[in-house]
Amino acid sequence: MNMSAERPRVWAFAHQKGGVAKTTSVLGVAGALAERGYRVLAVDLDPQASLTLALGHRPADIPLSLAQVLDQRVPWHAALLKTEVEHLDVLPATGRLSQIGSHWLATGTYEGLRRLVQAIRGYHFILFDAPPSLSIFTVNALVAAHLLLIPTQPEYFSAYAIRHVLQLVQWVRETYNPDLKYRIFITMFQKRNRAHALIRSRLEATFGMGLCQTVIGVDTKVREAAIAGVPIQYFASRSRAAEQYRALTQEVLAYDQQTPTQVVSQPTQETAGRAAAGAE
Ligand SMILES: Nc1ncnc2c1ncn2[C@@H]1O[C@H](COP(=O)(O)OP(=O)(O)OP(=O)(O)O)[C@@H](O)[C@H]1O
Ligand SMILES: [Mg+2]
Repeated sequence: MNMSAERPRVWAFAHQKGGVAKTTSVLGVAGALAERGYRVLAVDLDPQASLTLALGHRPADIPLSLAQVLDQRVPWHAALLKTEVEHLDVLPATGRLSQIGSHWLATGTYEGLRRLVQAIRGYHFILFDAPPSLSIFTVNALVAAHLLLIPTQPEYFSAYAIRHVLQLVQWVRETYNPDLKYRIFITMFQKRNRAHALIRSRLEATFGMGLCQTVIGVDTKVREAAIAGVPIQYFASRSRAAEQYRALTQEVLAYDQQTPTQVVSQPTQETAGRAAAGAE
């Protein structure tokens, strides 16, 4: 992988299911990359603006946001905001993003974020935080990304919904982005919860290498970090979640470097569904 800041690697965090730690994972991975010296741009694709808030910016106080960039009213760097972390910037969201979503849906726009990514310079990584549901922003993020990262809770509904995300991956590969890669990882895992252990083993059996070995456990420090407006590594550097997101980042970096364009072991829709079926 060419680590020049001229050609950023684009990682999208998405899942159909809400509340699976998409935003928390963007923060954790962004923090781990930034502390290693990579320049990171976090892009908030959710009109709820959780990522923007968790990086210390209130949507009400933001004059220019991603919506105006995607509207092509201003260049991308006009909406850029610094964070308290060196090397980590954010393209913030506000509620106005919903209007862009409606417009993109009506006009069948799938390459809006790809155009944005092609204009961006000066970062090693662009991280997309997608909204819940397989929205037009999620589709656009997958079209623009090198790698999709799918966080899942070790719960039945979350594991089951992975099949829908993978159907979308399949469609995106057949249309706009044949080289799209993906990795699944488990979040909010509780060691002593037997159902969690069961679903973890089902996910391992179904997805094999497609499932990251690193598992993110429950750690209330991530909530405190979001309130403080910084990634976990800059709030509680030695906390469990900080360490686990470092390990996850290392694992994903190794994967992304190893096969820049090759698509690895894609399960069929049937096998993807089995993870959930087996968890019943
Ligand atoms: N490892 C963790 N330990 C404890 N709490 C966590 C952990 N990861 C996430 N959470 C909490 O779970 C909730 C959902 O996380 P988050 O907002 O990151 O999910 P999301 O997938 O982005 O949600 P949405 O679908 O609404 O965008 C938040 O309150 C967050 O603080
Ligand atoms: Mg979120």
